Amino acid sequence: MKKGLVMATATLAGVMAISTSAFAAKVGVSMPTKDLQRWNQDGANMEKELTDAGFEVDLQYASNDVQTQLNQIQNMISQGAEVLVIAAIEGSSLGEALDMAAENEIPVIAYDRLLMDSDAVSYYATFDNYMVGTVQGTYIKDTLDLDNADGPFNLEITAGDPGDNNARYFYQGAVDVLNPYIEEGKLVVKSGQTEFDDVATPLWATETAQTRAENILSTNYADGSNVDAWLCSNDSTALGVEAALAANYNGEYPIITGQDCDILSTKAMIDGKQSMSVFKDTRTLASQVVKMVGQIINGEEVDVNDTETYDNNVIVVPSYLCEPVFADINNYKELLIDSGYYTEDQLQ
Ligand code: BGC
Repeated sequence: MKKGLVMATATLAGVMAISTSAFAAKVGVSMPTKDLQRWNQDGANMEKELTDAGFEVDLQYASNDVQTQLNQIQNMISQGAEVLVIAAIEGSSLGEALDMAAENEIPVIAYDRLLMDSDAVSYYATFDNYMVGTVQGTYIKDTLDLDNADGPFNLEITAGDPGDNNARYFYQGAVDVLNPYIEEGKLVVKSGQTEFDDVATPLWATETAQTRAENILSTNYADGSNVDAWLCSNDSTALGVEAALAANYNGEYPIITGQDCDILSTKAMIDGKQSMSVFKDTRTLASQVVKMVGQIINGEEVDVNDTETYDNNVIVVPSYLCEPVFADINNYKELLIDSGYYTEDQLQ
């Protein structure tokens, strides 16, 4: 601890309550973009919890622009941040800022997305990314009853941003469930696009996912055949696929997966246009990270539950993995409304 006198006491809820006698420790929080609902929630939750815990917070959003994120983090360091929490736009492009953090002995927590190719990453907190993919793949497998039904069924795949380390985990988790059925011919990918690089969506952009889906539909499904399932790695890409289907498709609606339970996708789920989403409660992740920040500042042992999985090409980063769960029309009320994540009005 470099400055300020910070005392921590554990409250009943297990959250660190920090009382500052000189000045509050400053925490820099760098978020990728305001374009997606989830990052706004992540940022707001963290700002509130960190402030409630007695920290000073410098929260910045980088408009999905790597150079902006780099500058913002460097500024946070110049302005005395004692811990950095970073959700990277591109996991391997923040080397300069991470070097600067290391020179200043500032611990860095990678938030949700792993920071790659650097030994200056102290901890990683995320939802289990491979499990997110497993949940999506299993949903398709169970809903099509692949072990019993004859098929064949048509499947298409839309994955995430190649610059985001998570995207490959989501893809792999799902494809590991579905691949045996693709190999057996029970699932047919008419576009022939199954490799990550062919199905990826730069920056997770809805419009990009939509354009690619429109091409697939006009090239492979203009003969009136159905798409039975469309694996989408998250809600922003699912929305693109849903827009393409709405404009270019007359067949039976496919099973469509997503992730985040964003409001638009939850509404699409209620309207029967998206089948499921993976719920990653941003309050859970924010609370975990606030707890870790408190532990770092107080020189306590930091809570991690995985020390093997997340190799960033230089070190294996000690991680805390939260558990994702699936949401669909049958359980969304309990998960999202009863838990206070959304009000009923927000979903109307
Ligand atoms: C996050 C997802 C999110 C995606 C797009 C990923 O790194 O884990 O929750 O949907 O980025 O922002």
